[in-house]
Amino acid sequence: MELTSAPLHKGQLPWRGLLLAASLLTYWNSPATAQVTVEAVPPLVAEGANVLLQVHKLLEDLQVFYWYKGDSGDESNEIARFIISTNMNTTGPAYSGRERIYRNGSLLLQNVTEKDAGTYMLRMIKINYDSPTTSVQVHVHQLLPKPNIISNNSNPMEGEDSVALMCEPKTQNTTYLWRINGQSLSEDGKRELSDDNRTLTLLTVVRNDTGPYVCETRNPVSTSRSDPFTLNITYGPDDPIISPSNTHFQSRTNLSLSCHAASNPPAQYSWSVNGVLQASSQELFIPNITTNNSGSYTCLVYNSVTGLNRTTVKIITVLEPVTLPVIQVTNTTVKELDPVMLTCISNDTGVSIRWLFNGQNLGLTDRMKLSQDNRTLSIDPVRREDSGEYLCEVSNPVSSKKSDPIQLDIIPDPTLGSSGLSAGAIAGIVVGSVAGVTLIAALAYFLYFRKTGRGTDQRDLTEHKPSASNHNLGPSDNSSHKGDEVTYSILDFNAQQPKPPTSASPSPRATEAVYSEVKKK
Ligand SMILES: *[C@@H]1O[C@H](CO)[C@@H](O)[C@H](O)[C@H]1NC(C)=O
Ligand SMILES: *[C@@H]1O[C@H](CO)[C@@H](O)[C@H](O)[C@H]1NC(C)=O
Ligand SMILES: *[C@@H]1O[C@H](CO)[C@@H](O)[C@H](O)[C@H]1NC(C)=O
Ligand SMILES: *[C@@H]1O[C@H](CO)[C@@H](O)[C@H](O)[C@H]1NC(C)=O
Ligand SMILES: *[C@@H]1O[C@H](CO)[C@@H](O)[C@H](O)[C@H]1NC(C)=O
Ligand SMILES: *[C@@H]1O[C@H](CO)[C@@H](O)[C@H](O)[C@H]1NC(C)=O
Ligand SMILES: *[C@@H]1O[C@H](CO)[C@@H](O)[C@H](O)[C@H]1NC(C)=O
Ligand SMILES: *[C@@H]1O[C@H](CO)[C@@H](O)[C@H](O)[C@H]1NC(C)=O
Ligand SMILES: *[C@@H]1O[C@H](CO)[C@@H](O)[C@H](O)[C@H]1NC(C)=O
Ligand SMILES: *[C@@H]1O[C@H](CO)[C@@H](O)[C@H](O)[C@H]1NC(C)=O
Ligand SMILES: *[C@@H]1O[C@H](CO)[C@@H](O)[C@H](O)[C@H]1NC(C)=O
Ligand SMILES: *[C@@H]1O[C@H](CO)[C@@H](O)[C@H](O)[C@H]1NC(C)=O
Repeated sequence: MELTSAPLHKGQLPWRGLLLAASLLTYWNSPATAQVTVEAVPPLVAEGANVLLQVHKLLEDLQVFYWYKGDSGDESNEIARFIISTNMNTTGPAYSGRERIYRNGSLLLQNVTEKDAGTYMLRMIKINYDSPTTSVQVHVHQLLPKPNIISNNSNPMEGEDSVALMCEPKTQNTTYLWRINGQSLSEDGKRELSDDNRTLTLLTVVRNDTGPYVCETRNPVSTSRSDPFTLNITYGPDDPIISPSNTHFQSRTNLSLSCHAASNPPAQYSWSVNGVLQASSQELFIPNITTNNSGSYTCLVYNSVTGLNRTTVKIITVLEPVTLPVIQVTNTTVKELDPVMLTCISNDTGVSIRWLFNGQNLGLTDRMKLSQDNRTLSIDPVRREDSGEYLCEVSNPVSSKKSDPIQLDIIPDPTLGSSGLSAGAIAGIVVGSVAGVTLIAALAYFLYFRKTGRGTDQRDLTEHKPSASNHNLGPSDNSSHKGDEVTYSILDFNAQQPKPPTSASPSPRATEAVYSEVKKK
C-alpha cells in the first residue's frame, strides 16, 4: 500500500503519510450504509423567514417519499408526497400553500409562523416496500417587538425616592439588557436587577441617574431597543455661582452679572443689592456704574418643587480709573556719587506703584531704596550706570497708567577715572598693586629676618591688612586666600573694561605671580 511505502522514500516529507492516514481513518469511520439525515437550514428561523428541511443521502431505490407535520405519520398530517417514477408531487391535507417538495427529498417551508414550529417527518417507500422514516425539529422564534420603558415614579426626588424601570412587553425566551448613557449597566450598590433583568430598580436616585436609559431585548433571531427614557429627577437648587468672578469694576462701564444654580425644575432667580430687590431674572444689568454702585450683590435661587432657597453674596467695589501720575525730581542732572530722589506723584489712594527703568522692571540695587508705598525712589550714591529713562506705573484693580518718562543724566565724577572703570575695579587694581608691592617687601623682610634668626614675620604680614580691607577685597588670615581675592578683582576688572583686556592684564598677572611665590615659600 502507498501508506506503508511513503515513509520508505527518504526524499518525501513525513506529513504526507500522516495525511493519508487521516483520510483513511475518516473513510473507515464512515458508516458502511449511509444514513438519511435531515437538517433545518437555518437551524433558528425567525417568523416570516424560510427554512429548508434539507435531506442528505436520500436513498436511491425509492418509489415515493412523504412529508408529514408532527411525528405520527397520520394521513391527515401529510403535507406533500413526491413520486419518483413520474417526477411529480401531490399535496396532502396539511399543505398550507407555503411548502415546496423537491426531487432530492428536501422540503422548503416559506414565510413561517410560530404555528409552523415542531416536528416534521420524512417517510420513504423503497422498491422493496421498506419504509424508513426520519424527522427534524423546526424552531421558530418571533421577531421581538420594539420594547418600551415604563417607570413607577415620574418625578422622583433626589436623595429620597427609588424608582423601578420596567422593560415592556414581557416575551418568552428573551434576555433583557439595560444601558445608561450608552454604557451597559449592571447591578451595584445603587441599582438592582430582577431575576430576568426585565426590571431595573434605582435605589435613592441622584441627579446622575437621570439617564437616558435604553432597554434592549434579544432572542436567538433578533435584537430590539427601546427609545431612550429620561428620568425627571427633582433636585436643587445648589448654591448659585455668580459670574464673572471679579469683584472690582471700573466706573462708567456697564455691570453685567449672571447667576447660575443647578436645579430641576430650573430655579427662579432674583437679585438684590444692599438688601433691596433689583431684578427677578437670572441676569442683572446696571449701565454706566459709579462708585455709588459698590456694595453687596445677592443672587437668590428658589426651586418651587423642592421649596428650597439658596443665596450667594458678592461684594463689589466700583473704582475710578487711576489718574496719570507724574514723576517729580529736583534736578534730572546729577553728579555721580550724589544722592537723587524720584517721587511718583499720583492723586489716587489705594494704588500700587512700580518703577520702570529703560522700559524694564527696575531691579533694585543696594544703593536704591523705595518708600513703604513705593512712591519715592532714592538712589544714594548715584552712579553713572543709573542714567537712563525712569517712569512709574500706578495701578488699581481696574486700571493702570504710566507716567511720562524722565531722563536722568549722571555727570561722571572725574576722580573716579575717565576710563569707565568702576570704583570697585579701580580699587581692585590699587589693592592688587599695593598688596603685591607690600608682599614683595614682606617676602624680602621675612627672608632677611629668617636668615638673621628673627621670628616677627607673621606680625609684619598681618600689619598690612587694614590698608586693603577698606575696599572689601582685603586679604584674609589665610594667605592662600589672598590669591583668590585678587584674582576675583582681576576678573571684575576685566568685566568692567570696555576695551580689550590685553593692555590691562599684564599687571594683574604679575600680581598673581607674586602671590604664587608667597604661597610657595
Ligand atoms: C409541485 O411541482 C410543481 C411543478 O414543478 C411546482 O410548481 C409546485 O410548487 C410543486 N408543489 C410542491 C408542494 O412542491
Ligand atoms: C435540494 O434541492 C433544493 C432546491 O433545488 C436545494 O436548495 C437543496 O440544496 C438541495 N439539497 C441537496 C442536499 O442537494
Ligand atoms: C407571510 O405571511 C403573513 C401572514 O402569515 C402575510 O401577511 C405575509 O404577506 C406573508 N409574506 C409573504 C412574503 O408571503
Ligand atoms: C422557549 O425556550 C424553551 C426551551 O428552550 C422552549 O421549550 C420554548 O418553546 C421556547 N418558547 C418560545 C416562545 O420560543
Ligand atoms: C442579567 O444581566 C446580567 C448582566 O447585567 C447578566 O450577567 C445576567 O446573565 C443576566 N441575567 C439574565 C437572566 O439574563
Ligand atoms: C456624577 O457623575 C460624575 C461624572 O459623570 C461624577 O464625577 C460624580 O461624582 C457623580 N456624582 C454622584 C453624586 O454620583
Ligand atoms: C419634570 O417635573 C417637573 C415637576 O416636578 C415639571 O415641572 C417639569 O415640566 C418636568 N420636566 C419634564 C422634562 O418633563
Ligand atoms: C455715565 O455717567 C456719567 C455721570 O456719572 C455721565 O457723565 C456719562 O455721560 C454717562 N455715560 C453714558 C454712556 O451714559
Ligand atoms: C424662598 O424664596 C421664595 C421666592 O423668593 C419665597 O417666596 C420663600 O418665602 C422663600 N423661602 C424661604 C424658606 O426663605
Ligand atoms: C542741576 O544740577 C547740575 C549739576 O549739579 C547743575 O549744573 C544745574 O545747574 C542744576 N540745574 C538746576 C535747574 O538746578
Ligand atoms: C490732583 O488733584 C488736584 C486737585 O484735586 C489737581 O489740581 C492735580 O492736577 C491732580 N494731580 C494729578 C497728578 O492728577
Ligand atoms: C512695591 O514694589 C514692589 C516691586 O518693586 C512690589 O512687589 C510691591 O508690591 C510694591 N508695593 C506697593 C505698595 O505698591
